[in-house]
Amino acid sequence: MQNKKVFLSGIQPTNIPHIGNYFGAVKNWVKSQESGELSSFYFLADLHAITIRQDPKAFREQILSCYALFLAMGLDAEKSALFVQSHVPEHSELAWILGCYAQFGELSRMTQFKEKTVSYKEGESNIGLFSYPVLQAADILIYQADFVPVGKDQKQHLELARNIAQRFNNAHGETFKLPEPYITQNTAKIMSLSEPLKKMSKSDENANAAVFMLDDKDVVIKKFKRAVTDSEAKVEYRENDETKAGINSLMSIYAAAADKSFDEIQKEFDGRGYGDFKTAVGESVAALLTPIQEEYKKLRTDGEYLEACMRKGAEKASAAARPTLNAAREKIGFLQV
Ligand code: TYM
Repeated sequence: MQNKKVFLSGIQPTNIPHIGNYFGAVKNWVKSQESGELSSFYFLADLHAITIRQDPKAFREQILSCYALFLAMGLDAEKSALFVQSHVPEHSELAWILGCYAQFGELSRMTQFKEKTVSYKEGESNIGLFSYPVLQAADILIYQADFVPVGKDQKQHLELARNIAQRFNNAHGETFKLPEPYITQNTAKIMSLSEPLKKMSKSDENANAAVFMLDDKDVVIKKFKRAVTDSEAKVEYRENDETKAGINSLMSIYAAAADKSFDEIQKEFDGRGYGDFKTAVGESVAALLTPIQEEYKKLRTDGEYLEACMRKGAEKASAAARPTLNAAREKIGFLQV
């Protein structure tokens, strides 16, 4: 087993990532690369994405776009293993094995599964949606990950991964490391701009609910101008006050984008209306997105380069995943021929 701490995380290429994905997760991935003391693995979870029907042609393009965006956001194919999940079939094999150590009841209790399927009619749900967290456990455990940088919504899946690992270890002896979530408090849950009690989501039907990483400056400014707040007209962070959910989230976004503290922001907008504040948030996010978008445009058209990086990432990931998979196979009693 390696001595370097292992960081691992993934994102579904179901849409262009939004600023919640960036501030909640990807920003920490980029930071993790700065330290040479870590070994990092970041991937596009295309296997997870097919739990919802995808149009094959659009899906292919979407995966390339998300990968180009990975690089444009600062992920480095030399410093990290940057790969596409289905290019590393070890994940799927371990997922089957771990499925035999996961319990029906615990999977039925997963909030994300319950939320997603509540509106589904008979015949619309599928087994992949149900066993999704088992695949996620395999993604994590196969690299012996120490830390998983994610937003708050993934905490429950992380706990499940730990439970499955523990159960396997109890049955067969120490095989998997128990991973810890790595969550940045203030940006752990960026809220929808139109319904601030709901998290910002890639699949929201309301186009104004999320700011996507490739939104033009005008669109970004307009979306923030329309953001739902409250009638108090006071830029003040109040943690557990639901009436301030909109302002709390806008302050978290502004703090992260402009690198300011809540105190500084409160002073800056003391006695000023929400109009000025929303414009400042929009401007700071647009300023952050512009260089990322410029870099993205250059990379997106270079299919050969993207594929070469993907191949390199898959090779690195596969080499790291194999020993754990082999150890699990051996402990179970599978024959090696
Ligand atoms: P996904 O694609 O929904 O989201 C990617 C990452 O973004 C975080 N995130 C947010 N953070 C703050 N505010 C928000 N509104 C917000 N929305 C999303 C998520 O917490 C996540 O970190 N199941 C995972 C993908 C996955 C994975 C893994 C993650 C597959 N295997 C193994 C970690 C480890 C997902 O659907 O993320």
